Amino acid sequence: MNYEEMDRKLKSRLKPERYSHSKSVEKLAVELAEKWGADAKKARLAGLLHDNAKNMDKEKSGILIEKTGADESVKQSPTLWHGPVGAYLLKGDYGIDDEEIFDAVFYHTIGKKNMSLLTKIIYIADAIEPERDEYADWTSACREKAFKNLDAALLEVTDRTINSLVKRGLKINFGCIDIHNEVIGKLRK
Ligand SMILES: [Fe+2]
Ligand SMILES: [Fe+2]
Repeated sequence: MNYEEMDRKLKSRLKPERYSHSKSVEKLAVELAEKWGADAKKARLAGLLHDNAKNMDKEKSGILIEKTGADESVKQSPTLWHGPVGAYLLKGDYGIDDEEIFDAVFYHTIGKKNMSLLTKIIYIADAIEPERDEYADWTSACREKAFKNLDAALLEVTDRTINSLVKRGLKINFGCIDIHNEVIGKLRK
């Protein structure tokens, strides 16, 4: 399947605003890949397709999440399902059989320790792409940071997520905590 075919299929499966967000993540992910020496072609595909399962109905994604190997804490949080489920669909639905792209899509909702450069880039680009204008001031400052120090931007994105979960009285998944602890340790060295 070529890029145009993937793009068309994705567009048919997503709500317009989600498709537009995906294109914006794709663009920022490519720029960050070029800046930090990741594979820009993989960043393009991972960015485009990271939310491919976002608008799937809950019943279907509830069935598919069981096949993904996601751990129990993820299975209990439906908002996290579209990462693992989207990764699971890459091969059959988009013809992408690539471990790095799989990992980047799988973990964009969950996060984890020792993320690859590509996974980190998708995780960050997803949070700060320019169309997320409800947080315009914050996202533009963090975008600038991402081009200077990727780990500092990663910490900011993660801490913002943790704070927001705490404020809303929601559970914090372990991936966020792992990222926070790992990056804090690295930046303080
Ligand atoms: Fe997502
Ligand atoms: Fe996204």
